[in-house]
Amino acid sequence: MTVVRAPRIAQSAFRKIRTPAALQEKIWAEYSAMKFQPTGGEAVYDPHYKAKQRAGISAQGEGEPDVGHAPASRELFDACYEILTPLIEEWAGCKLTRSWGYGIRSYGRGSVLHLHRDRVDTHVISCIIHVDDRSDTPWPLDFIDHEGELHHVTFARGETLFYESLCPHARLTPFAGEYYRNMYVHWRPENWDPETCRGMRSRYSSIEECLSEWQDQDSAAIATG
Ligand SMILES: [Fe+2]
Repeated sequence: MTVVRAPRIAQSAFRKIRTPAALQEKIWAEYSAMKFQPTGGEAVYDPHYKAKQRAGISAQGEGEPDVGHAPASRELFDACYEILTPLIEEWAGCKLTRSWGYGIRSYGRGSVLHLHRDRVDTHVISCIIHVDDRSDTPWPLDFIDHEGELHHVTFARGETLFYESLCPHARLTPFAGEYYRNMYVHWRPENWDPETCRGMRSRYSSIEECLSEWQDQDSAAIATG
């Protein structure tokens, strides 16, 4: 069976930068006055991941997901788009259309993000703005690029990651620390056609399961010469 993968957009599937100073200043001004609330609602069991989820986050083992939220203002998201769009377009190599922004989200001890691709209609080119953390150890983003290479990307406060969010990504190492806080900003290429991704798988129960798509394809290539 043919494996449908994400279309290649940028020269490299991710790039980490310092959050631009003008934006960092605005984020800190708002962040320093924020009150975080636990994200409510019932945690729902996801049989695919064999774990409960709340706002897309699971807990290590059988525990309850621990995720919180403090809403960033419309003005702050506007500033994100105004400042970041030219930079991320330069990296992506194409004009982009604004989609959605989320955050600030706060993840608690033991948090796990299962391996997935983002929404194909709107969340194609994305960035993670790492705002703050109180961590015992860095919490890596597991990222699989177009070649099937697995990367572990860690963040310092004040760093931003541009990434193709239709490439599979996760945080499978349970978070060790008190909190970890990010904003998320999403774009799609101008004239984006999500139909190019029809049949693409969006969730994987493990890194190995995902990487096997490249191994299967390599074996098929060898078999057919
Ligand atoms: Fe994601």
